[in-house]
Amino acid sequence: MKHEVLEKNIGLLGLFMVAAVSIGGLTQIVPLFFQDVVNEPVEGMKPYTALQLEGRDIYIREGCVSCHSQMVRPFRAETERYGHYSVAGESVWDHPFLWGSKRTGPDLARVGGRYSDEWQRAHLMNPRNVVPESKMPAYPWLVEHELNGMHTAGKMEAMRTLGVPYTDEDIAGAKEAVKGKTELDALVAYLQVLGTSIKTKR
Ligand code: HEC
Repeated sequence: MKHEVLEKNIGLLGLFMVAAVSIGGLTQIVPLFFQDVVNEPVEGMKPYTALQLEGRDIYIREGCVSCHSQMVRPFRAETERYGHYSVAGESVWDHPFLWGSKRTGPDLARVGGRYSDEWQRAHLMNPRNVVPESKMPAYPWLVEHELNGMHTAGKMEAMRTLGVPYTDEDIAGAKEAVKGKTELDALVAYLQVLGTSIKTKR
């Protein structure tokens, strides 16, 4: 019997198993590369400004992603709390994406505009200032560090290589745009734009 040959030959069985499993991968994953809904930015989305982009790097440096996800899942409990679920088109210019998987704190995918800048600043200086029971760490050094903008244009150029539509003017003005701003200003600017490219009612 032909099947017996397969069952008694581990090498051949392994080969057939790999072939069978990759069919699943191919049919699920490969089509995604060609679908507009996952490759095209959502309508009206703007690339991060120079300041927001610097803020995003501070978010990465400080490890905010280890406690906060940026991915509202399409379940009622999530959308009631955070707003519209996240769609792929919102992440196409995020390199690397910061969806995360750990929620020690709330999801931040739609935190933009939820609080005032003053609230965000007070919260980052010491979360207990505004949320007495918070166990989030304080980040008081952010207000002491000024951005020098030395690498901002370079970062934007790198993003452009990856498909983010920055113009030459954006890049030329990058250093000037972040000059004199603190890391706290940049991080707050980033937080305030999160999830705002989709209009949602909350
Ligand atoms: C050790 C885990 C932890 C880390 C690291 C952390 N957070 Fe938090 N964060 C929390 C918790 C818990 C809360 C909820 C209590 C509160 O509001 O302070 C929270 C709340 C927040 C909120 C308010 C969200 C809302 O919808 O109310 C924002 C904004 C926020 N964090 C931003 C940040 C940023 C930016 C960083 C990195 C600089 C960061 N967090 C790092 C745990 C963390």
